[in-house]
Formats: sequence, structure tokens, C-alpha cells
Amino acid sequence: MKIAVTGGLGFIGSAVIRLLLGSSPSEGEGPHEPVEPVEPVDVRTRVMNIDKVTYAATTGSVASVAESPFYHHVEIDIADGPALRDAFARFEPDAVIHLAAESHVDRSIDGPDAFVRTNVVGTYELLQAARFEAERRNVLDSFRFVHVSTDEVFGSLGLDDAPFDETTAYDPRSPYSASKAASDHFVRAWHETYGLPTIITNCSNNYGPFHFPEKLIPLMILKAVAGQPLPVYGRGDNIRDWLYVEDHARAIVSALRRGEPGETYAVGGNAERTNLDVVQTICDQVDVELGDEVGGRRELIEFVADRPGHDLRYAIDSAKIRRELDWVPSTDFADGLARTVRWYLDSEWWWRPLLSERYDGQRLGVAVAS
Ligand code: NAD
Ligand code: DAU
Repeated sequence: MKIAVTGGLGFIGSAVIRLLLGSSPSEGEGPHEPVEPVEPVDVRTRVMNIDKVTYAATTGSVASVAESPFYHHVEIDIADGPALRDAFARFEPDAVIHLAAESHVDRSIDGPDAFVRTNVVGTYELLQAARFEAERRNVLDSFRFVHVSTDEVFGSLGLDDAPFDETTAYDPRSPYSASKAASDHFVRAWHETYGLPTIITNCSNNYGPFHFPEKLIPLMILKAVAGQPLPVYGRGDNIRDWLYVEDHARAIVSALRRGEPGETYAVGGNAERTNLDVVQTICDQVDVELGDEVGGRRELIEFVADRPGHDLRYAIDSAKIRRELDWVPSTDFADGLARTVRWYLDSEWWWRPLLSERYDGQRLGVAVAS
């Protein structure tokens, strides 16, 4: 199978590519270790990684597969329709897994333009390119377009509300979630109108290796290691439902292989935690790993001005994908978080250049009324 993966130099896209190409899990990889070309799990799998290489892209996240004859990267903006169509005509994909996006809510508050361009216009151009390519080769029925989306399109839950599932009405509240909701609607429209076999996944918060350090978990790990203040928005009582990234990657590949065209699958980890709980657990884990007195780093926690429009709670009921696609998460939150903390402690080669060249940990997303 030839699969075009968009956003494959990002956090989740790189995990999908490592999974598709049979690379070992990400622990302990480094830039200077020799990397053998790997045999894909399915030897017929070929991957074209379409990634524009934004600030969020890192080649280190695919170092374990970069030399594989089954992998190549093309530097293309998904909003560039002609470039996409040309790449598709050369590669002749059987499927697209679409992950390329502007993904950070705080950045969407500071600068929504890129979110509209990539997440909305880019998804539209990708749908068109996939549709024309499938029609050109007369493979529309067997083609698959898996659109990787988020639980944030469903809005914000109250503490006593039932979790989101596939029937929940859309209610996006941030520029990021509005752009993802728009992209979901376009994907459904291309299925209904043009018969493109699309599948949508809506997943909860991911964590794990190669997570860009603007996001809560990696940011708190690196600040805790450095002994810097840990900025918790509001009172830290917002709730997220955490899923280890490699479990999400397996869900996406299951949706590709066994998902029903036109269907949506809600994906989550059954691991609801308040932000304060997550940050305290990170503090204690870093204390343990560095041999310090447990509890000391909790003193670094500072409550700061809340995120504008901060959604209170996300939670996912993933019964459908568990039942219909036999998917179950294999990593529980305590183990996954401990592994993640250890990975960051071992992987300074990956994150140090990001902090010095791209993002130094400053507060993002404080809307200024004008
Ligand atoms: P990320 O920010 O880590 O990576 C995004 C990748 O997309 C980067 O490599 C970037 O270079 C690339 N990209 C951005 N704009 C592009 C463009 N115009 N053309 C081509 N490539 C472009 O994102 P992530 O956290 O890996 O998220 C991947 C997808 O999963 C997104 O669609 C996101 O909405 C969705 N998602 C993320 C989470 C999460 O917790 N991170 C949860 C559910 C869904
Ligand atoms: O739910 C899925 C979504 O999860 C994905 O669609 C997004 O791409 C992904 O970025 C993530 O969005 P969140 O806004 O939930 O993730 P973030 O890591 O930015 O924040 C998690 C929670 O932590 C949120 O309630 C805000 C809070 N937070 C975040 C940062 C960066 C803090 O309290 N302090 C911080 O410094």
C-alpha cells in the first residue's frame, strides 16, 4: 500500500510513520546512533511524508526511518494545490492520512490566520488533490482518506456531563477548534458529494516522545528540570483526557485498514486528569528521576492568568472504535507519563535546539483586546 501522510514531521504524524514502517518505539533514539533501514511491518507499505516544515517539524522524530527505501519526504504546503497534485501523480497513493495542521490553541489565539490557511484551505486542497488522483486512476472506491481531528470540535464539557462521542454536536470555541471543525465538515462533504471514501477520527489530548515543548506536558517537564516556574492557567482545574501517542497512532492505522468510509471514530484514553494533577505528577516524577526529595518541585507551580475561552473539560467515550475496530489503548497514564519524563531526560539532543532556536518557553495566547 502506498500512503501519503501529511504532517509526518510533527508529533503524531511521526509516530504514525514509525508505526507504518515498523520502526522500533522511540525510546533511546539519538541523532548520532547508526540507524539501520527498517523493513515495514507490511513489506508492501510505502510512505510519502508531505510536510511544509513549520516551526513544529523535526526531522529527528523520523530519524529511525529516514534512510528506509520505503520512506521519503516532500516539502510541500498543503494549501498549494498544484504542488499536491503533482506529488500525488508521481507517488500514486492508495490512501492519505491527513495530520498536517497548526495544532496549538494558544498560537491560534495570537495569530489565527495560519490556522485558517492550513487547517481549512489546506484540507480543502488536499481533498481536491486526493479526489482528482483517485478519479484519474479510477480507484475512487478503494481509495481511503483518513482525517485526523480533535475532540476540541465538540466544545467544553461540564463536570457532570457524559463524555463526547460520535453523536455529539459540534461546538468549537477557539480559533484552533473552529478551524478543525471546518475541516471536518469539508471532509464529510467530499464523502457525501463526490464519493471520496473518508474516515474521521476525533481524538483527545496526546502525550509522549517528540511532543513540541509549547504543549503542557513537555513544557512542564523541561521547566521542572530547569528549576523554572511552572505556569498553570487559572486554578489548574481544567480537565483533559490523556492518550499515549503510540496508542493514537495505532487507532489511526486501524481506522485506515478497517474503518468504514463515511464514519467517524472518537478516540480517547479514559484518563481524565486535572491540569494541576498532571503538573504535580510531573514534578514528583522529575524529583524521582533526578534523585531529589520528592515534592520539592511542586513549589515551582505558579497559577497564572487563564487562557481566554479556556474549555473546562474534554473526555471521550471510545466504545465505538473499541467495539468495531478492536482498538484498545495499551499504555496507562502513570506508565506513559513516567516513560515520557525519562524520554525527555534522555533526549536533550532533540529538545535543546528547539528551545534555543524556535521557542524558549514564553507564555503564548494571552488575547489582547484592541
Ligand atoms: P504538530 O504541530 O506536532 O505537527 C504538525 C505538522 O504539520 C508539522 O510537522 C508541520 O510542519 C506540519 N504542517 C503544518 N502546516 C502545514 C502545511 N500547511 N503543509 C504541510 N505541513 C504542514 O501537530 P500534532 O500534535 O502532531 O497534531 C497532528 C494532527 O492531529 C493535527 O491535525 C491535530 O489537529 C490532530 N490532533 C492532535 C492532538 C494532540 O493532542 N496533539 C489530539 C487530537 C488531534
Ligand atoms: O484535545 C485535543 C487537543 O489537545 C489537540 O487537538 C491540540 O492539538 C493539542 O494541542 C491539545 O490542546 P490543549 O489546548 O488541550 O493542549 P495544551 O497542551 O496546550 O494545554 C493542555 C491544558 O493545559 C489546557 O487546559 C491548558 C493548560 N496549560 C497549557 C500550557 C501550555 C497550562 O495550564 N499551562 C501551560 O503552560
